[in-house]
Amino acid sequence: MFLRDFWYAVAWDFEVKHAPMARTVCGEPVVLYRQTNGALSAFEDCCPHRLLPLSMGYLKGDHLVCRYHGLEFDEGGKCVWMPGQEGVRKDMLIGTYPVAEKYRFVWIWIGDPQRADESKIPDLHWCSDPNWIFEGSTYHIKCNYQLLVDNLMDLSHETYVHPSSIGQHEIVEAPIKAVSDENSVTVTRWMLNIDPPPFWSANLKSQQKCDRWQICMFSLPANVMIDVGVALAGTGAAEGDRSKGVTGIVVNLMTPETETSTWYHWGMVRNFQTDDRGLTFRIRDGQAAVFEEDTQILESQQRNVLQRPDRDLRNLKIDAGGVHARRIIQHVLDRQASAAAR
Ligand code: FES
Ligand SMILES: [Fe+2]
Repeated sequence: MFLRDFWYAVAWDFEVKHAPMARTVCGEPVVLYRQTNGALSAFEDCCPHRLLPLSMGYLKGDHLVCRYHGLEFDEGGKCVWMPGQEGVRKDMLIGTYPVAEKYRFVWIWIGDPQRADESKIPDLHWCSDPNWIFEGSTYHIKCNYQLLVDNLMDLSHETYVHPSSIGQHEIVEAPIKAVSDENSVTVTRWMLNIDPPPFWSANLKSQQKCDRWQICMFSLPANVMIDVGVALAGTGAAEGDRSKGVTGIVVNLMTPETETSTWYHWGMVRNFQTDDRGLTFRIRDGQAAVFEEDTQILESQQRNVLQRPDRDLRNLKIDAGGVHARRIIQHVLDRQASAAAR
């Protein structure tokens, strides 16, 4: 059902506080919290006594206490106190998750904990690079994560879904180039000598003709980085010189909650006007509004998908990126299924 043995962004860094927080990842209910010293704990969200979600409990120092009968677990998940008896029973164990904090996100490892290796956290180096500014948020969307991947790998929808901000007709007219290997897909689109749409003319501080690019990069399990920007037309951006332009990376980390719901972590990292904090939050709010428009589309689409199990999603040329990404995901799922059958 879900891709295992991957790090998933479970939350933004600012979302995890010194209090139990529940989040289901790939169908697994998890409770996580930040210890007093800032380190993180992540356990299965289920008390081994009578199975109450531990996220309903509270912290006593850095220990998590179950709200029902007070079983107390230390920051490593070991039961250290139980009511009405001497000592603790050794079989009262909770599952723990490898957890890490990097690039402004909290990550948990879904799969075999022995295989958790922090060097496998997706490379989002821009997000913690002082030369770039990064801000964003989390949306809970009632759709399968692959519908979000489809959406982000085919930006032709911007023309119709986001006409007042980033959409423009040239997007659907410009050809795309899709290349893939067994782990990733890249879809590239260049629109040369066009009028900048409102979002980009404001950031370029110019209404002059521009060259605009959109480079969507999918990687496993369900991450899409989109290199976007505009430069004054004919100044060499397509050949690699972006000095007369502005660049952003739209960060999209899709963490499946269930088959039909997703924790969508999004944001934009940029390398222009990096000292303008007001701009940082105007961009975040603008993006929030754009992704609200996507949310409406995706949830409506998911409802129809569920109501019509006999109908397939059909593909056009514009869907090349999503089709490649789905193939890569399916390949890993097939590999998992055959390993499980052995
Ligand atoms: S259910 Fe947690 S202590 Fe009883
Ligand atoms: Fe969109």
